[in-house]
Amino acid sequence: MQIGVIGAGQMGAGIAQVSAQAGFQVFLSDVDLARAEAGKVGIAKQLARAVDKGKLDEAARDTALANIAPVGEVEAMAPAALVIEAATEREEIKRAIFGRVGKVLGAEAILASNTSSIPITRLAQAAPDPARFIGVHFFNPVPVMGLIEVIRGLATSAETVAAVERYAQALNKRVVHANDAPGFIVNRVLMPMLNEACFALGEGVATIADIDAACQLGLNHPMGPLTLADFIGLDTCLEITRVLFEGTGDPKFRPAPLLVKYVEAGWYGRKAGRGFYDYRGEVPTPTR
Ligand code: 3HC
Repeated sequence: MQIGVIGAGQMGAGIAQVSAQAGFQVFLSDVDLARAEAGKVGIAKQLARAVDKGKLDEAARDTALANIAPVGEVEAMAPAALVIEAATEREEIKRAIFGRVGKVLGAEAILASNTSSIPITRLAQAAPDPARFIGVHFFNPVPVMGLIEVIRGLATSAETVAAVERYAQALNKRVVHANDAPGFIVNRVLMPMLNEACFALGEGVATIADIDAACQLGLNHPMGPLTLADFIGLDTCLEITRVLFEGTGDPKFRPAPLLVKYVEAGWYGRKAGRGFYDYRGEVPTPTR
């Protein structure tokens, strides 16, 4: 089966990688061919690391890499049965992509979005057939995280849900079904925790290092909340928190002023070299 993945950043590359490893033939695109190719280079590095650790054999690596075809235009995805969009989290960008790829896809093809925050029913309006439009929300790092949230829009058909479930099963990932509500399940629960850690820091409850150590060791979380917020991207955390706040109208979701301040400073976290921690040295150091 052929699959299209639009967006070769962290999430798109991860989705392309696990799909290729599951035996799907993947078209991978980004704003241009060079970015799509760079995404494949990153995947090759991930797979090489797995080979070095003895977790993957060389033949499986070669097969997975051969399954990924970087393309310069989404129109090249015409033969795909499933196209997953993992582009920038901006509605107008996603709508434009659905308009373009929707024109070339076959009558049975499914269009899915990896959006973490935009309502699926609204995005479906830009797709050729809302019955064949669905949310498939992966988690970072995609090769490690065992979950896919499946979000049904108002018009999504049962056949579309079943097809995505079969795809998730091939990837060996557990599916949970969420209604098309702000934040779906995971971000509805996670973002208030990360936001609350930002309130606690801003109110002087504890230091960055102690807030993280408290949750990591006291709750057995793999990462403290401020480390995790940096890992996800503070701009993304703020964006999703705003969606929760605006989508529910509930003041309990209001963004922490300190989170807003870090984003306004351009300290977006790990990807920017600085967030709650400074990543520019040998080891991350707290910025406060
Ligand atoms: N890609 C692929 N594999 C990766 C990876 C990556 N980016 N980062 C780590 N790994 C693998 C490592 O290779 C290692 O594999 P192995 O056990 O087979 O050798 C394994 O993960 C563990 O990695 P490390 O030993 O280097 O480090 P940790 O034990 O600290 O684990 C972590 C790293 C898996 C990232 C762990 O800290 C973790 O699970 N953190 C929480 C991540 C999380 O909550 N993600 C969800 C974010 S929310 C989201 O994505 C939704 C969005 O809408 C915001």
